[in-house]
Amino acid sequence: MIFDRNENREVIALLGAGSMGTAIVRRIAAGRKILLGDISQENLERTARDLAYSGYDAVTMVVNALDKASVEAFADKAASLGPVMYFIDTAGASPSQADPDHILRLDMVGTGWAIDAFGRVMARGGAGLVISSQTGYMYPIPYETEQEILAAETDSLMDLPFIRETAYQRSGIAYMIAKRVNQLQVMKAAATSWKERRARINSISPGIIVTPLAYDEFAAAGEGYQRMVDASAAERCASSDEIAEAGAFLLGDHASFITGTDLLIDGGVIASIRTGRSTLG
Ligand SMILES: NC(=O)c1ccc[n+]([C@@H]2O[C@H](COP(=O)([O-])OP(=O)(O)OC[C@H]3O[C@@H](n4cnc5c(N)ncnc54)[C@H](O)[C@@H]3O)[C@@H](O)[C@H]2O)c1
Repeated sequence: MIFDRNENREVIALLGAGSMGTAIVRRIAAGRKILLGDISQENLERTARDLAYSGYDAVTMVVNALDKASVEAFADKAASLGPVMYFIDTAGASPSQADPDHILRLDMVGTGWAIDAFGRVMARGGAGLVISSQTGYMYPIPYETEQEILAAETDSLMDLPFIRETAYQRSGIAYMIAKRVNQLQVMKAAATSWKERRARINSISPGIIVTPLAYDEFAAAGEGYQRMVDASAAERCASSDEIAEAGAFLLGDHASFITGTDLLIDGGVIASIRTGRSTLG
């Protein structure tokens, strides 16, 4: 049985076939071809099977976001399938899952490579979405340092003195900085490579979203997390579906004037920290 005979369908590429990424893809998948990339064959198979049982057409590719050639091959594969209209990057590791070096190479550099690679293949009118984090608002970086980060090529980010001296202190700091850098990378791409392709790109900075990654964080920092959530306006964690609603909006036509920006979706955690109602977990 062939479910869809339409030729030259638009392509959605998802790097990081996890909980949030899959929820976003489901909202925009109808009538489109999906390319899933992940380092875990098991995640790929599970996600592709779930999508297939829901009537969506997904192909998979093992991708290591720590490897530039692998990320570039993923973008080339997407382009070989048809016009690449959507790119979503959710590949990442949290502080409890990895050391500072791994977090910076994956969450910061790997994301930069993916933004760069898709900046070469996006179709005109296409849209991208990078999943950053509320933690990108927790470790303010001096303006001059942010300008240095914006000016740096992705390959030289790890050589910046601020990254070498400050970001390596511990995993939590590496994660906060990597996620702020994601927001800057999106801003830069929207003004340069993605602009040239007439494609938009934005980021979402989620608060605590209950996914496999968050379970690892709860186990490591449960009490601190609980206090942070209790002090927030929403007084709860959220689901991937709530991020996906906003993601679908940012990727869709109603957001055609929105590019280079970040949307913080955290139930009020950052508002509560910035106004002194709570302190960092
Ligand atoms: N869950 C939260 O509370 C939360 C909050 C803020 C931000 N985030 C960010 O959201 C993103 C998505 O996380 P999630 O919560 O959906 O978790 P998830 O664990 O469901 O998804 C992450 C995916 O990234 C993949 N991955 C890990 N290393 C990779 C690599 N080297 N190459 C390719 N793929 C790799 C994993 O296999 C996994 O499928 C992450 O970047 C995370 O930092 C999560």
